[in-house]
Amino acid sequence: MNAQSQIAPPTGMLAELTHRCPLGCPYCSNPLELERAADELDTQTWKRVFSEAAEAGVLHVHLSGGEPCARRDIVELTAHCAAVGLYTNLITSAVGLTRPLFDALVAAGLDHVQLSIQDAEPASADRIAGYDGAFARKREVAAWTTQAGLPLTVNAVMHRANISRAARMVDMAVELGARRIEVAHTQYYGWAMKNRAALMPTREATEKAVADVEALRRKYQGRIVIDHVVPDYHARFPKACMNGWGRRTLNVTPSGKVLPCHAAETIPGLEFWNVREHSIGAAWYDSPAFNAFRGTAWMKEPCVSCERKEIDFGGCRCQALALTGDARNADPICHLSPHHARVQKIAAEEAPAIAPDYIYRRLKAKA
Ligand code: SF4
Ligand code: FES
Repeated sequence: MNAQSQIAPPTGMLAELTHRCPLGCPYCSNPLELERAADELDTQTWKRVFSEAAEAGVLHVHLSGGEPCARRDIVELTAHCAAVGLYTNLITSAVGLTRPLFDALVAAGLDHVQLSIQDAEPASADRIAGYDGAFARKREVAAWTTQAGLPLTVNAVMHRANISRAARMVDMAVELGARRIEVAHTQYYGWAMKNRAALMPTREATEKAVADVEALRRKYQGRIVIDHVVPDYHARFPKACMNGWGRRTLNVTPSGKVLPCHAAETIPGLEFWNVREHSIGAAWYDSPAFNAFRGTAWMKEPCVSCERKEIDFGGCRCQALALTGDARNADPICHLSPHHARVQKIAAEEAPAIAPDYIYRRLKAKA
């Protein structure tokens, strides 16, 4: 049996078109080592990548960044995705999207818009984003999206500065006409790990926010879908990160590296293939990085003998590495992990009385 007959095709792809962004969010999921504009794939290569993704089975493509609208060819790339049958989701900060550009994206076949909101309070939202006026731009782009009849998803990342307004952020998403909101508590790796002391909320604030959002789920049933990603550090079992490594989705970085998840480059020793030398299908089925943690054969105890190993696939490899030093260990969020006490210690840590300043992530894109 060859590898392809045992491995399901990918269904989703995150295309990080650029790491440039006008915002500087201190919990950004981009790597600490941002890729420079000079290293970005050109238009023709991205088009080939999208064609190969569609051929390999990808159905949804998330046009992301950084700020994807910082690419001058964003309309051309969107039109190409639509032409090869991909459902396109633009993940945008809203800053850098003008009305003519938005209209051109809609005409090119854009299917969906996903907008991050930093807070329900304008001044706080702009401080978190590191950009004056970002909040107002987001409201405007949300209105264009609903007026154009496109579905809107709002992303809200929770942390110390906004957690007391979690419920107001859900109300705001309803007001903006979003069909879905993803309320995600900060995951501590990359930039968020660098800013952990500034971002970590108190346990009481977290518990209140979780309860408030759950209550709103009942209130808004049928009006908005609330995806609530509860804070890892207080959980008993880990999440199936990426729905399992190399099972559904892949990421392509601005310079063309094909990654199983956005933080995979933090794991030493993995060999990533680049779209400049390999097709998307080849990277998915045959690249060493995708096969390193696919399935369950790589697992160690306690995962090997655990009945949940095909449910959560041992949790997150990047978090296992960050907190235990070995990416093959069970994600220490799991209460069965011998390293779980370390997670409990972190969860019990009090947020400092005075939060330090943010270290903003910066690789400027013009607004
Ligand atoms: Fe998941 Fe491993 Fe924990 Fe079992 S032991 S629940 S497979 S992380
Ligand atoms: Fe890499 Fe979870 S972020 S496996």
